[in-house]
Amino acid sequence: MAKRTYITTPIYYASGFVHIGNTYTTIAADAIARYSRLMGRETYYLTGMDEHGLKIQEAAEKQGKTPQQLVDEVADNTRALWSHLGVTNDGFIRTSDIQHMDKVAELFERYLASDDIYLSEYTGDYCVACEAFFTKTQLGEGGTCPDCGKPTRKVSEQSYFFRLKKYEKQLLDFINEHPDFIQPETRRNEVISFIESGLEDLCISRTSFTWGVPVKSNPKHVIYVWLDALFNYITALNFEGQDDSLYQKFWVDNDNIYQIVGKDILRFHAVYWPIFLMAANLPINFKLYVHGWILMKDGKMSKSRGNVVYPKDITSRYGIDALRYYLTKELPIGNDGLFSYERFYDRYNSELANDLGNLVSRTISMINKYFGGKIEKTQVRTEFDEDFENVIKSSVKDAKVEYEAFHLQTALTKVWQIISRANKYIDETAPWVLAKDESKTEELKSVMYHLAEALRISASLLHPVLIETTPKIIEYLGIKAVTNIEELSYGYEYDNIVANKVEPLFKRLDVQKELEEVMAPKEEPMDFKTNISFEEFEKTDLRIGEIIDCKKVEKSDKLLLSSVKIGTEVRQIVSGIATKYKPEDLIGKKVLVVVNLNPAKIRGNLSSGMLLCAGENEDIQLIEVPNGKSGDKVK
Ligand code: MSP
Repeated sequence: MAKRTYITTPIYYASGFVHIGNTYTTIAADAIARYSRLMGRETYYLTGMDEHGLKIQEAAEKQGKTPQQLVDEVADNTRALWSHLGVTNDGFIRTSDIQHMDKVAELFERYLASDDIYLSEYTGDYCVACEAFFTKTQLGEGGTCPDCGKPTRKVSEQSYFFRLKKYEKQLLDFINEHPDFIQPETRRNEVISFIESGLEDLCISRTSFTWGVPVKSNPKHVIYVWLDALFNYITALNFEGQDDSLYQKFWVDNDNIYQIVGKDILRFHAVYWPIFLMAANLPINFKLYVHGWILMKDGKMSKSRGNVVYPKDITSRYGIDALRYYLTKELPIGNDGLFSYERFYDRYNSELANDLGNLVSRTISMINKYFGGKIEKTQVRTEFDEDFENVIKSSVKDAKVEYEAFHLQTALTKVWQIISRANKYIDETAPWVLAKDESKTEELKSVMYHLAEALRISASLLHPVLIETTPKIIEYLGIKAVTNIEELSYGYEYDNIVANKVEPLFKRLDVQKELEEVMAPKEEPMDFKTNISFEEFEKTDLRIGEIIDCKKVEKSDKLLLSSVKIGTEVRQIVSGIATKYKPEDLIGKKVLVVVNLNPAKIRGNLSSGMLLCAGENEDIQLIEVPNGKSGDKVK
């Protein structure tokens, strides 16, 4: 098959902002995409947002937003974050894209027609956080979710079901015939025993909320988020669209498809996804690469534990490469890794500042000092050169094999063999001693040449991960940017002068000082939105309104339904402020209202406007204008 690569990350839940844990998946996939392009393969890298489901509907309600407002905000934020981290995704799919939703709705009808989906009654336990159903035997202690440990909810409703059971054997056969379908092997074994324990038909629709893709032939049902979400991998390629060339090229006529997933979502990708494809007679050429988790010292990263680290916490102080390097170096194949600032500083100082940074600055300054910046090949060899060359050659080969297999940690270790060998080579050859003896000039030349080669080759191999640092190394060497590493052979002919001055690539950190500053209670960075013009601002119609009536929205802890008098008009407005305000406290208050937002239905109630508030959750504050006149414009 052709030389091409399709690589995907899971699509991220749009209920909140991504932390360094989910960022791992994106950066790791980015490294593979960049590697693949450097290997001369046509590459398509897809990421995106998972925007439907109860979790997102509830998160939006809590913030007094419509789900669409929330997912738009989170998508913008995530997209900006990926661009900040240098992520080279070609596609960014959102499951609220109409073209995606239409295709999912259509596939559902096809499954109905082929009797892969049937209507029945569901009674069981549902975890909103994982958007997953569980049987009694799967539940944890006290009916909790076996995956995340949160309480599950009893759900009883008419539902559609997918005939998973029917495909049990076909799936097992497929996995047995394709030993590299799920990697690493331990994860493959887990999946096999899960299937062998027996599949149950899967509840594939819900009627108790509305934020999702409605079933065309029975719109009171919305399609289960995982069916909706999994198809992103092909709707993003315009599957069955007018021009489906991307789909044909990257999904059908391609056996180099990396689907990167964390261990928590393995079952969805290794069981449901291939079965959905089998049932629709669609090709399964992909391989699943399953990674572990970045954990904190006190376990999982979570808002409730208050131990969440966001990418910008790191990049704003230490740069993008420090984060990209730490994350890719941290996760061993198949296992979990750890994030702690102590470990981060340790790795930063010893591997980036010492091993790599010092090697670069020492080498470039020696080439300047001894040869006026010229790097020359010579016939004379030192006694260490042969071993040195061999280490480099075999490390190049090994690093590539590891990259291909999505073993990023090991790929970096292989490159570090070159870097460590080069540092040792400096000690062995002692260039400062050779420089004192004129008869050793050719040997000294050879040493400089070998060191330059070590730098050029390491920088080329590190390109997928250290995206800001490696171009600097190449620039210091004074050679052309690396655009291809297919033939990364020893023996480059340098015909240039190296840079005459080198800035340290990574400044050594004073660990004690850093820890004190990072651990000090910090002010949240101001996350201002991008500027808008005055004309754009003027489009917002802000008025003073008086709340003349208010009650709780049924079956919701967070929502209040207010009648707000704005001049001569009375509007009904839903707001997520019930955690802070009682309805009776609000009557008579004069507040700020956005009156020209498109009306939206929230929990079945039409909301025609928005009450302006500051803060969030328990700290939320309505903006009051006690002496204002109802209906007055706010400018
Ligand atoms: N929306 C689903 C995926 C649907 S794909 C059709 C989802 N989203 S998620 O935002 O919760 O997780 C996205 C990815 O981030 C998953 O691969 C998950 O394993 C990964 N991670 C979340 N926390 C993580 C760590 N702490 N460490 C490493 N990866 C982690 O699941």
